[in-house]
Amino acid sequence: MGFAALNPSYTCHELLPMTRKRPQELRSHRWFGVNDLRAFGHRSRLRQFGYDSQDWSGKPVIGIINTWSDINACHGHLRARAEDVKRGILQAGGLPIELPAMSLAEPMVKPSTMLYRNFLAMETEELLRSHPIDGAVLMGGCDKTTPGLVMGAISMGLPAIYVPAGPALRGNWRGETLGSGSDAWKYWDEKRAGNITEKDWAEIEGGIARSYGTCMVMGTAATMMAVIEALGLALPGASSIPAVDSNHMRMCAAAGRRIVDMVWEDLTPARILKPASFDNAIRVHMAMGGSTNAIIHLIAMARRAGIALDMQRFDDISREVPVLANVRPSGKYLMEDFYYAGGIRGLMAQLRERLDLTCLTVTGKPLADSLDGARVHLRDIIHALNDPVSTAGATAVLTGNLAPRGCVMKPSAADPRLLKHRGPALAFEDYNHMAREIDRDDLDVTPDHIIVLKNAGPKGGPGMPEWGMLPIPRKLLKAGVRDMLRLSDARMSGTSYGACILHVAPESYVGGPLAFVQTGDEIEVDAGARRIHLHVTDEELARRRSAWRPPPPHYQRGYGAMYSAHIGQADEGCDFDFLLAGERLPEPEIH
Ligand code: FES
Repeated sequence: MGFAALNPSYTCHELLPMTRKRPQELRSHRWFGVNDLRAFGHRSRLRQFGYDSQDWSGKPVIGIINTWSDINACHGHLRARAEDVKRGILQAGGLPIELPAMSLAEPMVKPSTMLYRNFLAMETEELLRSHPIDGAVLMGGCDKTTPGLVMGAISMGLPAIYVPAGPALRGNWRGETLGSGSDAWKYWDEKRAGNITEKDWAEIEGGIARSYGTCMVMGTAATMMAVIEALGLALPGASSIPAVDSNHMRMCAAAGRRIVDMVWEDLTPARILKPASFDNAIRVHMAMGGSTNAIIHLIAMARRAGIALDMQRFDDISREVPVLANVRPSGKYLMEDFYYAGGIRGLMAQLRERLDLTCLTVTGKPLADSLDGARVHLRDIIHALNDPVSTAGATAVLTGNLAPRGCVMKPSAADPRLLKHRGPALAFEDYNHMAREIDRDDLDVTPDHIIVLKNAGPKGGPGMPEWGMLPIPRKLLKAGVRDMLRLSDARMSGTSYGACILHVAPESYVGGPLAFVQTGDEIEVDAGARRIHLHVTDEELARRRSAWRPPPPHYQRGYGAMYSAHIGQADEGCDFDFLLAGERLPEPEIH
C-alpha cells in the first residue's frame, strides 16, 4: 500500500504565522538569557571565546553540524564552507556554533557506512538537543551523511536547513570523462578481462577524483542531495552546484542567512515535510534515475516524520515518471554537466505538472516559487517528459516467494534482455565464499546463471554493504559478458549498474527465503510483472527451513550489539526501532 492511501487527505502548503518568535522564546534563552548562576557560567564561557553580550543577546544560536574530516575528500571543502555559513549567520543577526559530527567517508569507513548512518542520526539529534541551539545548518553530502543528518534533525524538530556538499568535477583520462564508481567498475572489469594495462589503470586512478566534492555520477550522494532539495529542506538549486564552484560559497552564506529567519518563523521540518513533499522527492528521484539507496533513506526519513511510506509507493511512481536526467550510470553525462544544463531546478521544471507545487520549502514559500524562471539549457542532458532518456523506470519493486516483503532493481541500468529471465542459481553463502570462487577458471557458470549472495543484509553484512553489483565471473568477462542477473540482500552503490536485484527482505541472515536457495535451483525474474519466483516446492522449502540454523551474532558488545538488536529490515528503512517517530522528548533540565 502506498502512503497516499494511508494518508488520504492532506494539504501541503501550510501558511506561515504572521507573528515571529520573541527573543525570550528562543530555546537558547534558557542558557544565556536568564539571571541565575548557571546562565552566568554559560555566558562567562562565551566570553572566554572573546564574545561580548552583543554577540548573543536576543540572537538565535545556530548549530552548524559539520561532517568535515581529514579522511573524507567528498567533504574536504566543508571546513572552509562552514566559514561561509557563519558569515551568513552573522549577517542575519545570529550566533554561529560549529559542532563537528561523524563524517562517514563512503570509501573509507568499514565494514559499511550504512552501519553508522543511524549513529550519525543519533549524534545529530543529541548534539542539537544537548546544546543551546535554536536552529541547525546540516553540512554533508557523502552518501549516508545526508540521511543521517536529516533523520536526526527531523527527530529533534528544530528549524533546520541542509547544505549539500555538491558534486566533484568530472574525472578525466586521456580526454575521456570519468565518473566516480561507475568508471572504476567498468575499467576494473576491462583490466580483469586483460583489455587495459597496469599503467592505464594507474592513470585512471590519478584522473578519476579531480576535486573535493561528492561522487559526480548520479550515485547515492547526488540522488540524496537532490531528494532533500525536492523535499524542501535545501535552498532552491543548492544540490547541483559543484563543490568547488564559487556559487557554492554564496549558497552556503545564503543558507546561513536563511536559517536565522527560519528560527524567528519557527519553520521546523514538521511544517515542511508532508506526504506530498515525499511524493515530490520520489518523483525527482525517478526522473534523476537515482540510486536505489534513496528508497531505504526516504522510508527512514518519512517514518521519522511520522509519515507512512513503503516500497510500493516507489514502484507506483516509477511507472508514472520516466528518467529525464541523462547522467551515468543510467545515462551519459556527469553532475557537472547536469548543473550547466539547468540543474535540479531545470529538471523539476520539466516535472512541474507532476509535482505538488504548494509544498512549503525552507524559503518559507511554496515550491512553485523555487521553480520560477527555471530552464533547461542543454536538452541532451535534461530531457523533457515527452522525450525521456528511458521509460524502463528507475525502480522496480519485485515480490514473490523469494522476497515476500520485496526487493528492488533498477531496470534503466540493466541489460534489457535480463528484465525477463529464468535461469539456474549459483549461490554463495557469504561474501568471502563468493570472493574465493568467482574467478576460478573451472567455475561451472554460464551467462544464464543467476548469481546469488546471502548474508549481506542489514544484520548479516553487517550494515548491508554495497556488494549488490556482484562481480561477473572472470571466465565470462573474458568471453565478453558484461551483465548477468545478480541477486542479494545487499545494497548497491548508486554508481553501480547492471541487472542487480537488491534489498531482498527479509534478509537471509534472519531466515528469509534467500537463505534456502541452493546452486542449481531455478529462479525466474520478470521485472515488468514485478515478480521473482524460486522454483522449489513449498515442501522442499519447508524442509530446508527446518534444517536451517541462524548464523552466530557478529557482535557481543558495543555499538554493533545495539545495532544488531534494534536494526530494521530494508523495507522498513533500516532505522532503529527506538528512533521512530513517537512522543516528543522533553527538553533537557538546566541545573
Ligand atoms: Fe563520497 Fe561517493 S564516496 S559521495
